[in-house]
Amino acid sequence: MPLKRLKSAPAKSPFAPVWEIPLFLEKLDDAALLAEIRSTVLAREGELKQKIPAKPIAGIDDGLTSRWHGFNIFTWPEPAMRAFHGFIRRSYRAYLAAMGVPRARCYVQGWANVVRGGEKFAPHCHDQSPYAYLSGNFTVACTDTSTIYYPPFLYQGAPREDRSIPIRNERGLLTLFPSTILHETSLYTDGSERITLAFDIFLQDYDLGGRQGMGGMHIVLDDPAVMA
Ligand SMILES: [Fe+2]
Repeated sequence: MPLKRLKSAPAKSPFAPVWEIPLFLEKLDDAALLAEIRSTVLAREGELKQKIPAKPIAGIDDGLTSRWHGFNIFTWPEPAMRAFHGFIRRSYRAYLAAMGVPRARCYVQGWANVVRGGEKFAPHCHDQSPYAYLSGNFTVACTDTSTIYYPPFLYQGAPREDRSIPIRNERGLLTLFPSTILHETSLYTDGSERITLAFDIFLQDYDLGGRQGMGGMHIVLDDPAVMA
């Protein structure tokens, strides 16, 4: 079952923290497709870095991650990226079905991360506004790293590793998660590129700055009124 419910330990007091984080894990077992996605990202990397000004985020100062706001991988026309788009839509719908949540018109914006040794993503979350919905990450190429999720309650104001929930970044692994959840990655020390694709799904077509469609960057991922 791809739905994985991370839960707090049973409460021993009426005031103890109670939480549940539903993750959805799905594997895309297609080495040829992963290789094509990898080539596509690397082929586009230079131009995107030139064209989009960097905004440091999650401890990453440069590279595609800090340009996440200026492109959307779900608009890329390469066949491998269209196949990825279909995979994400199917997984997203399966996640809703597993949770018993009805489909709704929603929007997606995604970016690529290329990390080359000595870097890690610092703890961050994608959205804790009242509109927070879902996010995802997908491992294209990677050696030994994990994405580490943290329970929604912090002790002494800082994430504690002993309470974390690490998930190994295996090639082809998709993790869908609520956008509110704090997460980070372990330090990547290998010299080869660690390539992941990440994205946010929104019910409202506005970004955190209030721009509709994030200035043309959001596209529809699902709409039960017009999509079977
Ligand atoms: Fe993230």
